[in-house]
Amino acid sequence: MRYLTAGESHGPQLTTIIEGLPAGMPLLAEDINEQLARRQKGYGRGRRMQIEKDTVHIASGVRHGLTLGSPVALVVENDDWKHWTKIMGQEPPELNEGEEVKRKITRPRPGHADLNGGIKYGHRDLRNVLERSSARETTVRVAAGAVAKKLLSLLGIEVASHVIEIGGIKSEVRNYESINSLKNITENSPVRCLDLEAEKAMMKAIDEAKENGDSIGGVVEVIVEGMPAGVGSYVHFDRKLDAKLAAAIVSINAFKGVEFGIGFEAARKPGSEVHDEIIWDETNGYTRKTNRLGGLEGGMTTGMPIVVRGVMKPIPTLYKPLQSVDIDSKEPFSASIERSDSCAVPAAAVVAEHVIAWEIASAIVDQFYSDRLDTLIRTIEQQRTYAREF
Ligand SMILES: Cc1cc2nc3c(=O)[nH]c(=O)nc-3n(C[C@H](O)[C@H](O)[C@H](O)COP(=O)(O)O)c2cc1C
Repeated sequence: MRYLTAGESHGPQLTTIIEGLPAGMPLLAEDINEQLARRQKGYGRGRRMQIEKDTVHIASGVRHGLTLGSPVALVVENDDWKHWTKIMGQEPPELNEGEEVKRKITRPRPGHADLNGGIKYGHRDLRNVLERSSARETTVRVAAGAVAKKLLSLLGIEVASHVIEIGGIKSEVRNYESINSLKNITENSPVRCLDLEAEKAMMKAIDEAKENGDSIGGVVEVIVEGMPAGVGSYVHFDRKLDAKLAAAIVSINAFKGVEFGIGFEAARKPGSEVHDEIIWDETNGYTRKTNRLGGLEGGMTTGMPIVVRGVMKPIPTLYKPLQSVDIDSKEPFSASIERSDSCAVPAAAVVAEHVIAWEIASAIVDQFYSDRLDTLIRTIEQQRTYAREF
């Protein structure tokens, strides 16, 4: 299964084309819209999230509520496009003598793609870079991930996320009764956090960052429950599922680190306190006494929940900008300011959930017979039974 995304932040629309989905899968626009709305929420987002209400148009690959097996094209129109037609139009602009394109950018923001992207593609108007490097693109990554999540739910696999740290404030609550109880709490938390005390402190830290014209980052955790054991592979480096999940997390804008299970803590503990002892019983088959390795061994699933964490750096656009250089005059200047979030960690948790859902669904579709949903459901059930009795 594969997908491409296209679209500029202030262009007419964002598009994704998904290829390789099984036929016969129920899929409605509202399945995707629900997830797009989750990405737009979260304390600390800028004004754009109030302007845009993302909704998807399914342009191909679905008939009468079921996938056809042909490519699924999804389109999310930018509601704000009407204000950007001159600045972002596809036709050459009609300019009077000496007039410049409006909102040209020549003062790159430290931490963003502006300067390196300009050097790479030869753009002297850095808007040509930031329009695509903007995290607006994650809208359609969530759309593609929502389709993957729908497929996984039909296979008995659930994906959820929560925020475990913002601006140095850590959630002390890491346990939850079930994935549904985790969802119930985090969907009602403005920062998607299980710890209601930490939630308040996180919101305060976001307010302070905003007041200071600054930004803050954090850590998000994604959990996948219901995976059969043996998905992924150890036989070749580029087939390892943990490697694919790590790449997916670090591919999210501003994500700089990834951990599985106890993660970096494993470097500080002996093997006896890291590896998960194996047990077997008739009902559950092989399980582990603990899940410190986060459901992955040898590039494959163990059948225990997958636990992946991602580290997001603070957002690069600062209302009190850092020093930069004007690429035309080469003089020192403050970096340019674009409408921006002061903290996007809660939204980024939703993005992380969806890029992980995509990789998991993709690994399943690649590994098992998947032209038809009914056959795929049966094959996954067989794999669960096989792994239990092995
Ligand atoms: C959900 C989300 C929202 C973001 N919002 C902004 C923003 O408003 N302003 C900004 O400068 N960066 C924002 N970023 C981060 C930048 O897109 C990112 O730092 C930039 O693309 C450079 O890539 P890099 O940080 O991965 O090197 C956001 C990231 C995510 C995941």
